[in-house]
Amino acid sequence: MSKITAAITAVNGYVPDYILTNQELETIVDTNDEWIQTRTGIKERRILKGEGLGSSDMAVPAVQGLCKKRGIDPMEIELLICATATPDHVFPATANIICDKIGAKNAFAFDLLAACSGFLYALVTGSKYIESGQYKKVVIVGADKMSSITDYSDRSTCILFGDGSGAVLLEPSTEGYGIKDSILRSDGSGRVHLQQKAGGSVKPSSHKTVDAKEHFVYQDGQPVFKFAVVRMADVSTEIMEKNSLTADDVAWLVPHQANKRIIDATGRRMGIGPEKVMMNIDKYGNTTNATIPLCLWEWEKKLHKGDNLILAAFGGGFTWGSIWVKWAYDTK
Ligand code: UT7
Repeated sequence: MSKITAAITAVNGYVPDYILTNQELETIVDTNDEWIQTRTGIKERRILKGEGLGSSDMAVPAVQGLCKKRGIDPMEIELLICATATPDHVFPATANIICDKIGAKNAFAFDLLAACSGFLYALVTGSKYIESGQYKKVVIVGADKMSSITDYSDRSTCILFGDGSGAVLLEPSTEGYGIKDSILRSDGSGRVHLQQKAGGSVKPSSHKTVDAKEHFVYQDGQPVFKFAVVRMADVSTEIMEKNSLTADDVAWLVPHQANKRIIDATGRRMGIGPEKVMMNIDKYGNTTNATIPLCLWEWEKKLHKGDNLILAAFGGGFTWGSIWVKWAYDTK
């Protein structure tokens, strides 16, 4: 029997309507469009407005659209993994809430937390259930309402983040399409540079933690930048070397969208020109777990069966990794 691989057979995305531009941010904090664009590449980001809405409310349309595109009923989903750093609640898992809202009553579901690398971690985890032959329909969704943990009085972070969601369906392939190889890494000593300080078991929420603004993203930008530039480029070149892939063999680099300068540096190290790098940070900013599936969704029509894609991410933890994907279909 031929080996089973986990092919991505559909992709979908969802971003909220509200557009927060650099110009609007200029009226909120001491910043300017030129600084933001030069240092990050961001022009605008989407924000989920409305009382009582969370990450699941963006994941639901993304997954519903995914099922519709592939022509499957949510009852056919056997496993749904939600990669998120901004779950609806500390518990239960947002994945459970998504399954309830879409009527995926036959699925088991859990959240996976690896900050900005979460989508890659979840993709590899989900692929193992397909490769083992246990399941035939696995959904991986990345969803983050970053605006819920962003301090809009801190100019060093509030310009970076946006809200959004993206999802892929994994199904078995016996022709070698899908997840071909992966390298995932983590180094917890980096936690001091990028974290949400309160709200966990070490420092439960209190009036004091709220007053100290410890429920927002804390980031020491420069050390994170230095690690991200080196690690994302290292891991992307490593997966190419490991699989004897040259830059010509790679159709697309699909990088996490944290900073245009980090993406450019990664592409340069891989020898891949900007024309083969997916980049939409200008429109959406850093949507954490949604950046990579949102890129796949936007570029879907340009992807061809057999294309080699290198997915790469770096995030809080620290966590980082790369995945080699052989694209499984042409879009009609
Ligand atoms: O996705 C998860 C992983 N995260 C990342 O990969 C993010 C990595 N880090 C970065 O992308 C960059 O470090 C940032 C975009 C966050 C910051 O860029 P930077 O080039 O590292 O700037 P900086 O923090 O060194 O700040 C340079 C200057 C400072 O002023 P002084 O001290 O030189 O006078 C800041 O106060 O820019 C100032 N600054 C701003 N000025 C205008 C910081 N934020 C702003 C702002 N507008 N929004």
